[in-house]
Amino acid sequence: MFQKNVSLKPYNTFGIDVIAEKFVEVTSAAMLSSILSLNKDVIILSGGSNILLTKDLSKPVVLLKNKGIKIIDTFEDHVIVQAEAGENWHDFVIWCLEKDFGGLENLSLIPGNVGTSPMQNIGAYGVEIKDCFVSLEAMEIQTGNTVRFTKEECDFGYRESVFKNELKGQYVILNVTFKLTTINHAIFDGYGAIKEQLKEDGILNPTIQNISDAVIKIRQSKLPDPKEIGNSGSFFKNPVISEEHFKKIHSTYPNMPFYRISEEFVKVPAGWLVEMSGFKGKRFGDAGIHKKQALVLVNYDKATGSEILEVARKIQKTVKQNFNISLEMEVNIL
Ligand code: EPU
Repeated sequence: MFQKNVSLKPYNTFGIDVIAEKFVEVTSAAMLSSILSLNKDVIILSGGSNILLTKDLSKPVVLLKNKGIKIIDTFEDHVIVQAEAGENWHDFVIWCLEKDFGGLENLSLIPGNVGTSPMQNIGAYGVEIKDCFVSLEAMEIQTGNTVRFTKEECDFGYRESVFKNELKGQYVILNVTFKLTTINHAIFDGYGAIKEQLKEDGILNPTIQNISDAVIKIRQSKLPDPKEIGNSGSFFKNPVISEEHFKKIHSTYPNMPFYRISEEFVKVPAGWLVEMSGFKGKRFGDAGIHKKQALVLVNYDKATGSEILEVARKIQKTVKQNFNISLEMEVNIL
């Protein structure tokens, strides 16, 4: 059933070349269940877009490739759509747009697969998947049982869900169900970069397709395409600091961008902190920091996962020294 000594380079967006001693591609829940009945200690890989591989893997690696998208129910103004975990996220967003189903257009061009989207509640330009999420089905690794999780049970937060916390490593997400509008689409164009792009394109009353096109243009202008330069999107989460801490930094840097999230807490962009710490565009061998977005670490060619991790730790240390802020990694390290 397993292939031996397979390079994982094609299966992670950082393009890190490590070897999986045992590797299998899974195309159905039944196949996954039979694998899990024999091996519970496995590494599940999906789109490979949120992972940094730092060593060869001796545990069996299971690549999820189950595909399919279906409309489960149709209502007057919305539909319920279910997509299998192995579907590519952006292809799924495009499928929705082709059918004029609204809700996910701000999340265009995010690398990765449908199955991992709820894991970290992917988000961009003012929208997170929790906004359209209905439920998901996941297989419990220990028992092989399929369990349905509602939105509440997923306990979504900023780049967080129960699957990254209490239930970490216990379930494999099989499919995700979304509620999408068919008429009167809500248009989320409030994010500065989207407004600017729409203005540049001369669009006054944007459709969901216009929003998707704008998001694609913005992402392409700032974020490196993993097919050309290995990367995993934002490497760190944007930190939340106390009002008092914020005031201290802000008095030195009045132009610092920030988002107030409550009276007591302020979110500050990690990209800005990394840039102000002098890392933007820096290169250490084949590992580096993207020149247009300092939150994105890149593999120019043959960097190892450990080399990228070393750069990440250097950034964390410097940002801590400069701003007394601990940057938390968004990417999973294996
Ligand atoms: N900034 C800098 N220097 C930089 C990068 C950013 O000063 O090198 C400043 C920008 O000028 C801006 C602010 O930081 O004022 C925020 O930057 P940006 O709009 O690019 O967004 P971000 O906070 O860096 C987050 C998400 C992205 C998402 C964008 C757009 C996180 C960790 N990242 O990035 O998500 O696409 O907002 O909504 O929340 C991802 O998670 O992989 C990801 C790409």
